[in-house]
Amino acid sequence: MILQNVVPWGRNFEEYKAMFSLNTTDLSSSILGCADGPSSFNAEATKKNISVISFDPIFQFTKNEIKQRILDTAETVMKEVEQNKGTYIWKNISSVNELKNVRILAMTKFLEDYEAGKKEGRYIEGSLPNLPFEKKSFNLVLCSHFLFLYSEHLDLDFHLNAVLEMCSVGNEVRIFPLLDLKGNRSEYLKPLTEHLKKAGYQYKVEIVDYEFQKGGNEMLRIKSIK
Ligand SMILES: C[S@@+](CC[C@H](N)C(=O)[O-])C[C@H]1O[C@@H](n2cnc3c(N)ncnc32)[C@H](O)[C@@H]1O
Repeated sequence: MILQNVVPWGRNFEEYKAMFSLNTTDLSSSILGCADGPSSFNAEATKKNISVISFDPIFQFTKNEIKQRILDTAETVMKEVEQNKGTYIWKNISSVNELKNVRILAMTKFLEDYEAGKKEGRYIEGSLPNLPFEKKSFNLVLCSHFLFLYSEHLDLDFHLNAVLEMCSVGNEVRIFPLLDLKGNRSEYLKPLTEHLKKAGYQYKVEIVDYEFQKGGNEMLRIKSIK
């Protein structure tokens, strides 16, 4: 991974809770967050005594390297959001400026927690589709804004291998959103779920109480029965 190609962008704990419909039972179990990047989910969860491990290739970089990259890219990202304002729903977050504040706050919380979290083994460096964990090490495996979203860049085989790997290390997998970057339902959802069904997994597409990208209010829940 080359840091100059990465645009760090992270959501917060409340957003994760809504995107994945996390209830108190979920939050008292062991959670793996794949592609958590600079989100503050792990930092905020840890403060609440919730057990979260985050997995992302960006964790090969130092705190200062990630911080600098956030500073270098934030303005460009905000300009892009401003230009594409119509593709988002401005309900919970009411303006581009508020969005910037919410995201910067989340990434600041991440940065403040990052070095301690690395020492404690809560930020693990690596890349899907390979996960360096024992089978069924987690109750819940989450993935937000990575699978399906980058359907143009990552092919169906990548998605399938990543999801099967996530299923092997956890009892349940949840993925959000199911849209690609253009705001269309990913073309991989159908073939991927058909494959899962044939392989004996149970899955459900569920509406969640979170929608920022227009139409992005669906989560895929997979019960890993193997
Ligand atoms: C748009 S960010 C999403 C961050 C966070 N999940 C959220 O929703 O706020 C996408 C993340 O995917 C990570 N990523 C890129 N390639 C990956 C891979 N092969 N496996 C796991 N994560 C990857 C990036 O480093 C980045 O942190």
